[in-house]
Amino acid sequence: MTIDAYLTTSINGMIAQLNGDTPWSDATWQSYARLARKYPAVIVGKATYGIIQASSPDEFEKLGDPRVLVISRRMKKTGSAMHRVVPGPQSALAVLKRLRIKRALVIGGSKTLSLFLQADAIDKLIVDIEPQIFGEGIPLVDLPASWKRTYASVRVSQPSSKVARVTYSKAA
Ligand SMILES: NC(=O)c1ccc[n+]([C@@H]2O[C@H](COP(=O)([O-])OP(=O)(O)OC[C@H]3O[C@@H](n4cnc5c(N)ncnc54)[C@H](OP(=O)(O)O)[C@@H]3O)[C@@H](O)[C@H]2O)c1
Repeated sequence: MTIDAYLTTSINGMIAQLNGDTPWSDATWQSYARLARKYPAVIVGKATYGIIQASSPDEFEKLGDPRVLVISRRMKKTGSAMHRVVPGPQSALAVLKRLRIKRALVIGGSKTLSLFLQADAIDKLIVDIEPQIFGEGIPLVDLPASWKRTYASVRVSQPSSKVARVTYSKAA
């Protein structure tokens, strides 16, 4: 099973402004959607899921109606049979295995990415860097001070004229 993660950041590594806004360019949203459509399942944190449902309820339809696993210890269920709540990375992996789903994309936020990094469950970390700097914001990860990971390989591409995509892989 392959689990990748995708996030967009500012130049200084923020995934959102402090008020939660993600002011990325249309081109970046489109290249995210193109990538996410390649995965039969996406994994999302409860906070991000709530934002998506409130601001863009047809977002998952636009991504081709993948299975959606929402990471939450407290949420009981979602309003959709395709959207399932799981309490953490291990349960998410078990559900994907049961459903025979071989690829999934973690789409944030920061807490959810960090839980999957700590579970050593991310094969590729894909980061789109927008040409913006936020004075304050939500950082890419929320990890213990001593946590460290070095990736075996790095690839850089440019999905649109104003975005650099860096893909960090566990495998060389
Ligand atoms: N730039 C990007 O690409 C991007 C992508 C996605 C989101 N975002 C932004 O990121 C922000 C939200 O990120 P976030 O980090 O605050 O939240 P999140 O990852 O979307 O959701 C975090 C949820 O995880 C659950 N959780 C916390 N600790 C846990 C644990 N130990 N085990 C299992 N579940 C746990 C909590 O739900 P329970 O309390 O119910 O357990 C919590 O609500 C928003 O501003 C959003 O716009 C940006």
